[in-house]
Amino acid sequence: TSLALATTLAVSALIPVQAEVTETTVNWTREQVSKIELNEDNTLPYLDISKLEKFTEDYHIWDSWPLTDRDGNIASIKGWKVLFALSAPNDVLPGKVHDIATIRYFYSKNGKDWTLGGTLFPEGASLGSREWAGSAMTDDGKIHAFYTATGHRGQEPLTFEQRLAMATGDIVVDSKGVRFENWGDHKIILEPDGKYYQTREQALQGEGGGYAFRDPMWFKDPKTDKEYILFEGNSGGAVGDRTFKQEYAGSTEYTSENPVPAGAVHANGNIGIAEVVDGDPSNLKMLPPLLEANYVNEELERPHIVVKDNKYYLFLDTHINKYAEGLQGPEGLYGFVSDTLIGGYEPLNESGLVLANPPENPYQAYSWLVLPNLNVVAFAHFGDIGDMSIDDIGHQSEEYQFEHFGGTLPPTVKLSIKGDTTKIVKEFSPGWIK
Ligand code: FRU
Repeated sequence: TSLALATTLAVSALIPVQAEVTETTVNWTREQVSKIELNEDNTLPYLDISKLEKFTEDYHIWDSWPLTDRDGNIASIKGWKVLFALSAPNDVLPGKVHDIATIRYFYSKNGKDWTLGGTLFPEGASLGSREWAGSAMTDDGKIHAFYTATGHRGQEPLTFEQRLAMATGDIVVDSKGVRFENWGDHKIILEPDGKYYQTREQALQGEGGGYAFRDPMWFKDPKTDKEYILFEGNSGGAVGDRTFKQEYAGSTEYTSENPVPAGAVHANGNIGIAEVVDGDPSNLKMLPPLLEANYVNEELERPHIVVKDNKYYLFLDTHINKYAEGLQGPEGLYGFVSDTLIGGYEPLNESGLVLANPPENPYQAYSWLVLPNLNVVAFAHFGDIGDMSIDDIGHQSEEYQFEHFGGTLPPTVKLSIKGDTTKIVKEFSPGWIK
């Protein structure tokens, strides 16, 4: 027996202890991105925006999201659907729109003809100096409105600090339409921790590279009934702290043919997730990111999940110019699929690309959001903005002036999904929500 024991000890000393699998964050790799190809299943039809009717005369609008119920289905409030959108008066310069973004809402009985209701919040109530994208959920006659509080009220000059915020109010429906009243206090519900999610201070320590902590999206997991907020972030740490890991790039076969340029270190986009504690949407427990694109892409925007056939479909938007050095991809909607909410995500269509603008109009639309029935809403650029996207312009100043500029809603498109492949199957009228 002593020999047997000695052998066991000797053998176990040789076998490394299998580390408990706690790594749940998935990488979107350079190798996967290198497989991006535009084809008829993912490329949007060319849109002649001059023929598009403006969604509203007085405002540019861009990111939009419908009111949902707690389970994520599109809500019907006494027969009314509600759509929220970032907006700015249409007479401001393009460079300004992100600096004064305000959430406005529209309501409709048929999900097609929308009436502007006004601003979501009363003037001066929201946190931040402007409101960026979020989501909204209704339960028991209340609205829980999530948004990004960007900057700080009254601050000069403006900063890009981003915090996740929310407020709860009452939904009122009468013969005049839909409105929101009796708002409670606005609360900051999540800020970056510096470990999983980069803080603004860390972002400022490295030149270039992204900083995002925004776009809170409500999600209830139908398999477990647990509730979450997904958001857009960047991996924690300053640029100098980030060391390359092979798993960011893919296989060694791939990297031996395609070495990773040093400049790729600036890309560190991720998709964040936080769990709702005790059913209170303002009480969140931060979790490690669902997905990271280190050395791959610096902005994974407006993340959201649709559950279909017992699988989790995770979607995000990104821009042409947010890919890391050495990689290319279109302005597009990208997606991943997994059998579990956390971990296991594989890119759809091998590369992740789900919807791309047509090459002849690369900045045609942006900010796609996949609804539970696989209809996809987005916004289109109204007018000629050259080769820039609305986000680039937003981060520039008044020096960029485009006469015919604005955002409006493009045709809604319908996706079909089979396992890990997707396809555009249909187009509906602009802003159509079923
Ligand atoms: C996407 C986006 C969002 C952000 C908003 C700001 O178009 O960049 O991530 O909340 O625009 O205008």
